[in-house]
Amino acid sequence: MSIVFLNDVYLPMAEAKISPMDRGFLFGDGIYEVVPSHGGQMIGFLLHIDRMNNGMAAIGLKLNWSHTRWKEVCDNLIKKNGAGNLALYLHVSRGADTKRFHAYPEDVEPTVFGFAFEIPPAPVADKLKVVGYKVATSRDLRWDRCQIKSTALLGNVMHFQYGYQQGANETLLYNERNELTEASACNAYIVKNGTVITPPRDNQVLPGITRHILLDLLRKEGSIPVEERVVTMDEVFDADEVWVTSSSKEVVPVIAIDGKPVGNGKIGDTWLAAQTIYSAGKLNY
Ligand code: PDD
Repeated sequence: MSIVFLNDVYLPMAEAKISPMDRGFLFGDGIYEVVPSHGGQMIGFLLHIDRMNNGMAAIGLKLNWSHTRWKEVCDNLIKKNGAGNLALYLHVSRGADTKRFHAYPEDVEPTVFGFAFEIPPAPVADKLKVVGYKVATSRDLRWDRCQIKSTALLGNVMHFQYGYQQGANETLLYNERNELTEASACNAYIVKNGTVITPPRDNQVLPGITRHILLDLLRKEGSIPVEERVVTMDEVFDADEVWVTSSSKEVVPVIAIDGKPVGNGKIGDTWLAAQTIYSAGKLNY
């Protein structure tokens, strides 16, 4: 039975209850994080908490917890749920009001929820072991504030479902100018002539922590050039490699898009080099 954290209490999941008047439930009015942890070691913990604080500031949600307080919650969730391969899900909603009224309430305590769920073991940089993704594509129909990691994920859910129904692992998204934004739950990249190219950080993409760590490690290592710039869907279909990244998956090669092979349809050498660099450096974040 998994032990969860709810408003300063650790308790079995089945006993965790929130009010139906919680604005997270009524409006999707909240911010969340997913922090990966393998064998008790979290990856990018401080970066995840910084992003959560940025998200809360963007929506005027005042919580003011220190990084140390969050660390304690995460360490306890790991301790109580076994230090295997876990994602620590952290969720702050604006809390339960007495009425349903759109404006932010003044005197409502935020609801803070955390739980751990199992994820696959950290991927290894091995072409024979990695399973490449097949992805669908769709016009990005979410909102213009995708940099906020909002719990209101219906847009992402609908995009993911669209690919899922076709047997795809993810859905790549593009804007009205036919430019790649990201995927429904991952950041996206192409590789062309050995250069890794990913759309810039703006309001169309989540500033992924895996993206941040990967680009930082690649730049420091120096053997693979990196560009952050607009990527058209024509470039995506013409790429040598395509990848997606997220905290629970690290760097995932995409082998087919809309049923067409990416490059020669095989896992690429640049992916192998990048996942090798990521695996070696990720624990420094
Ligand atoms: N998804 N873009 C979107 C829309 C995402 O939902 C995610 C993460 C990412 C990658 O961000 P990061 O590298 O920080 O995990 C990009 C999480 C894991 C989820 O919702 O389950």
